[in-house]
Amino acid sequence: MNPSSGDQKTINGINTAWWKEAVIYQIYPRSFCDSDGDGVGDLQGIISKLDYLAELGVDVIWLSPVYQSPNDDNGYDISDYYQIMEEFGSMADFDTLMQESKRRDIKIIMDLVVNHTSDEHHWFQEAQKSKDNLYRDYYIWKAPRQSTQGDSSASQPPNNWESIFSGSAWEYHSNTNEYYLHLFSKKQPDLNWENKAVREEVYKLMRFWLDKGIGGFRMDVIPFMSKREGFADIDYENFPDGLAEAYANGPKIHEYLQEMREQVMQHYPAFSVGEGPGISPEVAPLYVDEKRKELDMIFHFDHLQLDRENKDLWQKKDYRLQEFKEIFERWDESVGRKGWGAIYLGNHDTARIVSRFGQDGEHREASAKTLATLMFTQRGTVGIYQGDEIGMTNVQLDDISEFLDIQAINLYQERVVENGEDSAPLLAALNRFGRDNARSPFQWDQSEHSGFTSGTPWQTVNPNYISINAQDNVDSPNSIFHHYKQLITLRRAHSTLVYGDCQILDRENDNVYAYLREDERGKYLILLNFSEHSSEFTHKTIADTENAQLLIGTHGNEGELSSNTVRLAAYESRVYLLADKQ
Ligand code: GLC
Repeated sequence: MNPSSGDQKTINGINTAWWKEAVIYQIYPRSFCDSDGDGVGDLQGIISKLDYLAELGVDVIWLSPVYQSPNDDNGYDISDYYQIMEEFGSMADFDTLMQESKRRDIKIIMDLVVNHTSDEHHWFQEAQKSKDNLYRDYYIWKAPRQSTQGDSSASQPPNNWESIFSGSAWEYHSNTNEYYLHLFSKKQPDLNWENKAVREEVYKLMRFWLDKGIGGFRMDVIPFMSKREGFADIDYENFPDGLAEAYANGPKIHEYLQEMREQVMQHYPAFSVGEGPGISPEVAPLYVDEKRKELDMIFHFDHLQLDRENKDLWQKKDYRLQEFKEIFERWDESVGRKGWGAIYLGNHDTARIVSRFGQDGEHREASAKTLATLMFTQRGTVGIYQGDEIGMTNVQLDDISEFLDIQAINLYQERVVENGEDSAPLLAALNRFGRDNARSPFQWDQSEHSGFTSGTPWQTVNPNYISINAQDNVDSPNSIFHHYKQLITLRRAHSTLVYGDCQILDRENDNVYAYLREDERGKYLILLNFSEHSSEFTHKTIADTENAQLLIGTHGNEGELSSNTVRLAAYESRVYLLADKQ
């Protein structure tokens, strides 16, 4: 970030920036709002809901990809970076979205998907024509591995790399007798970042969008861009955290990111947040330490691994609240001052946060509010995903034909169809963790198809829209929506919630997550009950509770801190101001 570097302001010794204080709202355009009745969300649909987002109080919209795409992976397979997907509208609609957002003081950030393109991108169409095509080297091609007998007809993929979407990461191309690499689907060939021409194409397209005035980029699978040297077989046993760990942090990644910053980002008043699979808190400062001039923030994955077995992400794992707390603590220690954190719980690739980290039955409202209280009282920029502000839940799909996500479909094909595994446990796992959960259409109101479309929705609407929808949330002052809104207002008024240091209290308490936030401006106590039972927190170490002022609570305005022990109702949370030092 370059603006205002002349008179850089600091709070708590941290350089301030507008995007550090911002709230990002992620829109998955396909599932947000359909304006023309084709069953697919679109840009005009988003424009029609800007007032809703302005009322909520968000500063930035992150648009999941809206570029032209054959939609093998819903837009994460781009066939033209300079065109808007027809189903979503036109460039004129995009320009209107920019203007209308600006009028409401909302910035747009785009999804930069440049680890790979679609196989329908003209670069790839050219590249596959011949080995000496000008675009051949835009992608990663390797000769088949010869069998030990030297028999080339028995050729195999060049190495044992696995695709994140199941099967080999290599696809054979008979025309030229070579394989190309695709870490995701075979319709998503990986770009060759070693090739300077590729990097220059990427910088060019970034400038195109930045020149339109966008506020920055969320950068898709950014640590995967630099590939492991030599393309040798990977011993996956050495990567207990799974495929992401094996593919991330290649030898040239920092060189590329520094170049990207220098060539592009530093010339614009814009920020970058990288998606960070495979980035640990130990290496994170290499990406976001301000001095290194690479990225501004990353969305790490640690809390998303917590309830899944590393060896098989589709197996559920139990964990203790203490481990959850320590993830936030470790990340804050790693990037909270040196760089900046990005706080989020879910996105378009995850289960719904209330179903996953809260409780989507009796305590849905309280737990959704408490998860929000957690996010808005951590140090870092907060990212929320569409629908979480009204407590949308996972959707139950009973048959594989109802799953539309390529990851789910490929996984089922591999495990059930090819390997003969029992389908029931896999369907249960997909219902628990699968990406379709986050992609069910937004629940606007009680009308047919939840007010998402007047046509037939592309994806199943969760039947619970009758009781869970935006209209009811907006109309009811105690709703989850209003809790989010109040938290956003509170955070804006109390900069310590953005920049202050964080100290966990009563670390081993497996029901209550409690912490202090403090800096030269103030001191705050945050109490979050993560249990479906009422739970106690003992605060004997806090001296200044006498005049504690409850700023926000999920259960109304009760709750003095008069005795040493506080009892919290199931999923109750409270934020206290302990000292206003200004
Ligand atoms: C990222 C996106 C995900 C996509 C993948 C490949 O993880 O968030 O939706 O499938 O990259 O682009």
